Amino acid sequence: MSITTKQTLIAFAVGLACTSGFAAQAEGSTATSASAESPHHYGFGTNVGPEELKQFVSPLPDGRGLPKGSGTVMQGEKLYTQQCLACHGANLEGGIGDRLIGGRGTLAAKSGPPVKTVESYWPYSTTLFDYVKRAMPFTSPNSLSNDEVYALTAYILYKANIVPQDANMNQDTLAKVKMPNRDGFKPADR
Ligand code: HEC
Repeated sequence: MSITTKQTLIAFAVGLACTSGFAAQAEGSTATSASAESPHHYGFGTNVGPEELKQFVSPLPDGRGLPKGSGTVMQGEKLYTQQCLACHGANLEGGIGDRLIGGRGTLAAKSGPPVKTVESYWPYSTTLFDYVKRAMPFTSPNSLSNDEVYALTAYILYKANIVPQDANMNQDTLAKVKMPNRDGFKPADR
């Protein structure tokens, strides 16, 4: 298919979508005002409320946006064994999934390749909560409760020698954790 034909087809498809959107909104009012004001611009979908919207916003590095809940290293160890170990290894050394700990200091070292892990690379502890909550376990993301994610976060940070064994992670304590590579990021020279 030539480029020109493709472009014409795309233009046609867009035109069609707009036309049907207007048509769905046109009842009882003018097409122009309805399409400008209605959230159902194209005549389908639902309104997104503040609660639903929260799912798409990550917590900030200072902890704002972290949910309520808490979890300990011990609780995290149990969950890790059941739900993460198969892919990330008994010592968090990796397997099918990434290595999670170790590699500190290898990013800036001239000798040898960099080993990128949560411990060596990630600048903010809040990202760990957010990532595990949204993306893990790999085969059933978003299945863990907030308490479970706090516990897993505590366990991983403990194994990375970042928090002590009796650490209890919650929205206050997690935000206060300083990651080893926090100051390792520099603005690019441009
Ligand atoms: C079925 C295998 C599997 C399971 C089970 C699993 N993971 Fe993962 N995990 C992966 C894979 C694969 C990646 C890399 C994903 C990518 O890069 O897109 C990953 C990435 C991660 C990362 C990011 C590492 C990095 O440096 O980028 C973290 C943290 C993590 N997993 C934590 C967990 C936790 C906690 C659990 C248990 C609740 C878990 N994973 C269960 C396969 C798995």
